[in-house]
Amino acid sequence: MRRPDGSSRSRAAWTRSAPALVTRDWGVWAVDHGASRALLRRAAREGDLIAGLLVDDAVAADPFPRLEEIRTRGPLHRGRLITGTVDHAVGNAVLRSDDFGVAGGLGHLPPAAQRLVLRLIDDESPGPIDPPSLLALDPPDHHRIRRLVSRAFTARAVARMEERVVEVADRLLDDLERRDEATIDLVDAYASWLPVAVIADLLGIPEREHARLLELGNRAAVLLDPGLPWPAYRSAQRAVRDLHSWFEVHLDRLAADPGDDLLSTLVTSDDAELLSRVELRSLALLLLGAGFETTVNLIGNAVVQLDAHPDQRDIVLADPARWANAVEEVLRYDPPVQSTLRQAYVDTEVGGEPVATGQGVVVILAGANRDPAVFTEPHRFDVTRENADQHLSLSAGVHFCLGAGLARLETGVALRSLYERFPDLSLAGRPVRRSTRILRGHEHLPVALRSRSSQVVMRGPVMR
Ligand code: HEM
Repeated sequence: MRRPDGSSRSRAAWTRSAPALVTRDWGVWAVDHGASRALLRRAAREGDLIAGLLVDDAVAADPFPRLEEIRTRGPLHRGRLITGTVDHAVGNAVLRSDDFGVAGGLGHLPPAAQRLVLRLIDDESPGPIDPPSLLALDPPDHHRIRRLVSRAFTARAVARMEERVVEVADRLLDDLERRDEATIDLVDAYASWLPVAVIADLLGIPEREHARLLELGNRAAVLLDPGLPWPAYRSAQRAVRDLHSWFEVHLDRLAADPGDDLLSTLVTSDDAELLSRVELRSLALLLLGAGFETTVNLIGNAVVQLDAHPDQRDIVLADPARWANAVEEVLRYDPPVQSTLRQAYVDTEVGGEPVATGQGVVVILAGANRDPAVFTEPHRFDVTRENADQHLSLSAGVHFCLGAGLARLETGVALRSLYERFPDLSLAGRPVRRSTRILRGHEHLPVALRSRSSQVVMRGPVMR
């Protein structure tokens, strides 16, 4: 294309024009999601057990019987379309092995399709599982980036955050206490806001922006699922672009006026030149999303399980020192991230089975967590289980959850503070699950904060 001054417009400028971005998005969607969607649906109809987990609503609503069916097929199950494992030892080995990698987040596609998608992806606004997201990088690039932020997540750094987490939880609970409603939506009123406030602090994000970032993050989170329909993909991709634009301005603001937060440290330190601007935005976006999209689900899943198992709830309420282990048991029993994918980079072997170069393997974390070889009576929810923390819910190997310590702290504080304030809390309606498949949690969680009798007592003075 010629400009009025006779020069040609750069390819980069053209490929970022609005129509070109829609075309590129559509191209990525068609190759990555559109084709996978058709293949997954057909495979599920033809009996592929893992494809069914991803596309069949009834199976996804209660995946655990299906996970047991997969277990009967051996340590590595080769379906018509998808190969995967619910075996703890095999899953752990795949996640830790150098023979496997994340293949740019595209391990489900053949190499030619991977190359095409990587060419089409909007490299100025990559999504949460597109390179250079940590989740889509292998070493050495993965190490280079992770090393720069890991200091903020050490056990000591996380311990320093406890006071602030307690303060946020207390403030949210004060607000709840003032509400005179018989039923509230715990996700909307509590479980989503606590992790957002904590990760926002870490990223130097002011409180007035929390609601907008929560909305954008929720829209972008579906990108973890395979086989999305075009409207969902398009909406998520728009949210990702808005997040990148937001972080671009935010990073400039922090560079000019740094605060006492991780992103300010990154933009102002000598290490800044080790990261490109896109890498920095991509990291911020991943931290934001990973920071709240998972923890909200863990808090919600915990409340549902404690409600369904009153004996276990009584045990932990009687001895608050047990909260830490209760959090591990919820992670094991009802994990917020159901599975992850790796691709074999060389001909290799796992669980005594050969795996050829290029083969994708789905590690079903939720299934590994119920492996009877590791957990006795794996289908029993037991907050006193001694080895509950051997779950794979936070992954393993180089991609082991960077925020694991923070997630544990936040969830422990969130639950302890919630039940201390409202020991009679109970479900007051059907929880509504999120439609996402890789992330498992609740969109709405109606609860009564007080038992009926205490509601009458509470309302007494107000009515006089
Ligand atoms: C209950 C809450 C959480 C769960 C269940 C969870 C789960 C996971 C899992 C399964 C992975 C690895 C995925 C894979 O191996 O492919 C992961 C990675 C990651 N998580 Fe978490 N996470 C949680 C909370 C958090 C929090 C609070 C943060 C940050 C503040 C965080 C930041 C990250 C990051 C940055 C990665 C990428 C690490 C890498 O690729 O090196 N997560 N998380």
